[in-house]
Amino acid sequence: LKAIILAAGNGKRMKTNFPKVLHTVSGKPMLHYVIDACQNANITDITVVVGKDGEKIKAATPYDVNFVEQAEQLGTGHAVLCAKDNIDPTDKVVILYGDTPLITSDFLQNLLAFQEKNEAHGVIVATKIPDPTGYGRITTNANGDFSAIIEHKDLASHQQNINDINTGILLATGSELLYGLIRLENHNYQNEYYLTDVPKILKNSGYSVLVHNVADYTQFLGVNSQKQLEEAATALRQRIINRHFENGVQIIDSSSVYIDSTVEIAAGVTLHPGVILQGETKIGENSTIGAYSQLANSVIGKTTTIRNSVLESAIVGDHCQIGPFTYLRPGTEIGDYCRIGDFVEVKNSVIGNHTTAAHLAYIGDAEVGDRVNFGCGAITVNYNGVVKNKTIVEDDAFIGSNVNLIAPVVVHSGGFVAAGSTITDEVPQDAMAIARQRQTNKEGLAKKFKKPKKATKKSKK
Ligand code: UD1
Ligand code: CA
Repeated sequence: LKAIILAAGNGKRMKTNFPKVLHTVSGKPMLHYVIDACQNANITDITVVVGKDGEKIKAATPYDVNFVEQAEQLGTGHAVLCAKDNIDPTDKVVILYGDTPLITSDFLQNLLAFQEKNEAHGVIVATKIPDPTGYGRITTNANGDFSAIIEHKDLASHQQNINDINTGILLATGSELLYGLIRLENHNYQNEYYLTDVPKILKNSGYSVLVHNVADYTQFLGVNSQKQLEEAATALRQRIINRHFENGVQIIDSSSVYIDSTVEIAAGVTLHPGVILQGETKIGENSTIGAYSQLANSVIGKTTTIRNSVLESAIVGDHCQIGPFTYLRPGTEIGDYCRIGDFVEVKNSVIGNHTTAAHLAYIGDAEVGDRVNFGCGAITVNYNGVVKNKTIVEDDAFIGSNVNLIAPVVVHSGGFVAAGSTITDEVPQDAMAIARQRQTNKEGLAKKFKKPKKATKKSKK
């Protein structure tokens, strides 16, 4: 079984200036869902028909598929004909649309089984949909057998409310598909060569064409407009959330949680309201992601709590407490049992185990060891306006509050940096570094800096 995925349409109704099939749902381009469904159904020979935006689609689609160009968009039938060199007369072909991202591999396997059981030359797929606007409708003859697919724009007024729609998917034997394709005509409202006329041509020539009915219409939601993109995304979001429920993830309010299809979450994880998990994010067992946290491409270990924080391409170990209001930027790697608290920003830094930066710190381009304490307001001064420099803080070091570590600089293990110090030189092992002006007290001078006190009225009793 081979697959042809149509992705050459102009996507005019999207009103954007990039290819329709690259619009994303739950973090992934629509076309990629269709390719994934094929590959998961063990269909390895896949041809994608692309149009004038083909180069963009190819560049954004790192899959092992063939691309064929349809130079002019003369309709879905014409698009399939452009891929005729990839149609083997002795093999079966399934034709899918790049704008129906909810299609599943289970469905594709069932479709093939249906075709094989009935030995049909062609199988079209029908479903009932609440709002059939824009879809082709399936008509039957007096015996209830398939008769034709009529495109929405070609419907007679009495046919408008047929809600048995054509999902657009066609499975056919190769030689019969070619037979139908070369006989297509474009005498219709849109003057296009409709793929959807192929089943009628086959039927009228005595080939067997069957309708495979599928109850769950959400799999076939087609995306032609921004509104339909949101509808498809909503259906997909629910599917993703249900998968995590089944895997033992607790989601306190699923209506406010957004999880990309690529995210992996272990059992026992709790997601609080407003959580957004994106890209290749992975969350380990029994961790908690607190309200309004946004994690992109980040890996969280086991039994870690993240509260109200933003993480981008960051790695956090087991048993950590992150947040509230922590910002972990790309290249952050935090070990186990760490506490990174409010208004701490970490970037491109590796932090060991049992290390704490409880509040108001900036750690950038640093290597920080185990059991280090970063005091309130301590920062790495990693940028001199020209280059970024590295800070190394070894195990068991203590960085007092409001310390500037002017990189490149090393604080060796067990080093102690006094609060308020600006450190420009290496701090030896177990040394105490203090780098600030000594305090002098001038007796009585404070009065000079204060306004004279007004005479206070005596309160009446
Ligand atoms: C199509 C079907 C309709 C079905 C619906 C399901 C046709 C004529 N109609 O309508 O019966 O109910 O899908 O979602 O097939 N494309 C090309 N080249 C072209 C035209 C389109 O590659 O010349 C591609 C598009 O990129 C898209 C797919 O084919 O991925 C479907 O085209 P679209 O214009 O969206 O068809 P619909 O009007 O949705
Ligand atoms: Ca469509």
